[in-house]
Amino acid sequence: MMCRMDHTPYRPTERPRDQRRGQATRDLYANVTVTPDQLIYPLFVLDGENQQVPVPSMPGVDQLSPDRALQTITELSARGLSRFILFGVIDPAKKDPTGSEALNPDNPVNTTLMRVADAGLDVEMSADLCFCEYTDHGHCGVLHEDPDVTVDNDATLDLLAEQALVLATCGAHVVAPSGMMDGMVGAIRQAFDQNDQPHVRILSYTVKYASAYYGPFRDAGGGAPKFGDRRGYQMDYRRDDEWLKELNADLEQGADGVMVKPAAAYLDIIRRVRDHTPAQLPVAAYHVSGEYSMLHAAAERGWVDLQSAAVETTTAIRRAGADAILTYFAPQLLDWLG
Ligand code: PBG
Ligand code: ZN
Repeated sequence: MMCRMDHTPYRPTERPRDQRRGQATRDLYANVTVTPDQLIYPLFVLDGENQQVPVPSMPGVDQLSPDRALQTITELSARGLSRFILFGVIDPAKKDPTGSEALNPDNPVNTTLMRVADAGLDVEMSADLCFCEYTDHGHCGVLHEDPDVTVDNDATLDLLAEQALVLATCGAHVVAPSGMMDGMVGAIRQAFDQNDQPHVRILSYTVKYASAYYGPFRDAGGGAPKFGDRRGYQMDYRRDDEWLKELNADLEQGADGVMVKPAAAYLDIIRRVRDHTPAQLPVAAYHVSGEYSMLHAAAERGWVDLQSAAVETTTAIRRAGADAILTYFAPQLLDWLG
């Protein structure tokens, strides 16, 4: 039997679709945008000249010698990208238990910093500040005698302060401590204050979770722990309270910016960190290697469109509250953001 319509048809009072009709209208109403000045491009640098070594698990990402890194930075800077962060890829023969190569002014990170400074480019150079790429055991600092403790926090603080001073001397505008040591920001801030480096900023990896999404990075940087894992110092993603403690500690110790990492799986944390951080301090988010490689892997199989998915994810990170986004997609986003 047919059902006769003998009532007044329902009509909505609000019609949000009016603002979705046609590209020009959608563009007018779009109020979350990503711009090139919000992007920070990570670069992996290694010893040598004219070296460009592709990272198999990160399509489009290469390890570069300092001359090639300078070339890349020069080209991207001409295209409108002006923020870069350097990671060292260290010859295994130069690694030792304390990561002493990190303090060598001739290591690839410091060499690149000096070459960029000499070239007089108008770019902001950050340097990751950690020991995992420099230690033979691959942990983020010197080991404690108690294996349960893994990294010795306070002994590592002293070394982080030294590494920060070397980076500053070689021309880093920003140091980014990523080892999740308690007090790392305070130790670096004090070293800068006592050694006449008041202008180098500290962008702390404030809220960094122990994450499976760092896998491809560990290929790229050669910094995987040789035993155990980083859960004794990186955060536990099963907790949703710790971020505030870490944030307050870094703010008290004088961080110039705070970071959440990873990004796409932690949008809730980015939002809450943004809401609890003073307005004048930037919140950065790191769209990490695994998040990048996953999109590439799916796109290679034709399961997602790389450009659309990358733009959507980057915009979501921005919408969550990130003022700056560290992303391996940065060069492509220059084209894709239009
Ligand atoms: C090192 C460091 C890592 C990343 C940035 N700095 C790896 C780790 O903590 O194991 C990850 C970045 C990425 O996955 O893109 N402390
Ligand atoms: Zn580390």
